[in-house]
Amino acid sequence: MKNFSLALYIIMLLVLFVTNSFWEIEAKACKPSGKIRGKKPPPKKCNKENDSVCCAEGELYSTFNCSPPVTHHTKAYLTLNSFEKNGDGGGPSECDKKFHSDDIPIVALSTGWFHKKGRCFNNITISGNGRKVKAMVVDECDSMRGCDEAHDYQPPCDNNIVDASKAVWVALGVPSDDWGGLDITWSDA
Ligand SMILES: *[C@@H]1O[C@H](CO)[C@@H](O)[C@H](O)[C@H]1NC(C)=O
Ligand SMILES: *[C@@H]1O[C@H](CO)[C@@H](O)[C@H](O)[C@H]1NC(C)=O
Repeated sequence: MKNFSLALYIIMLLVLFVTNSFWEIEAKACKPSGKIRGKKPPPKKCNKENDSVCCAEGELYSTFNCSPPVTHHTKAYLTLNSFEKNGDGGGPSECDKKFHSDDIPIVALSTGWFHKKGRCFNNITISGNGRKVKAMVVDECDSMRGCDEAHDYQPPCDNNIVDASKAVWVALGVPSDDWGGLDITWSDA
């Protein structure tokens, strides 16, 4: 009888372990939630400066309503954004409907991490290029919508983007020729 309970106990532990890791894998995957079809940007729309990508007619782009789980070392891809008027950031920032100077360290986060404005005005610590910088969250890098005027006719963001002002790139000591794409980690500050 004792052995039987022990066996049962071990089996239950195993089941828990397996379902748990399954859940973790599911959470980490963060699969696309849908697709949108690209429209051709009107003439003079979609500024291609700073490596911005423009939507192509008929192309399908994945959308995401999730991002990978946040840890103390959340892996992400750092991109360059202008938060100023007439910059490549499209409309004003989502948190306060204002434009911001690119000379202060600010970022936009992918939709899942932006967490329905839940991280607005919070600071995050970004680690990259052997350095660290604190930056304030002011905007969303929209993973659900794109290819329209509000997003400067750029495709929806990936689910793992920290879209940063010039000041962040400067603080990380990245030479300006290399601005635009860098593997980083971040955490809530
Ligand atoms: C490109 O980035 C630089 C540096 O942040 C900025 O001054 C410039 O306005 C950006 N261009 C566009 C179109 O956003
Ligand atoms: C984020 O940092 C800025 C600049 O250091 C500071 O003014 C602001 O209060 C900080 N935000 C939070 C939520 O602590």
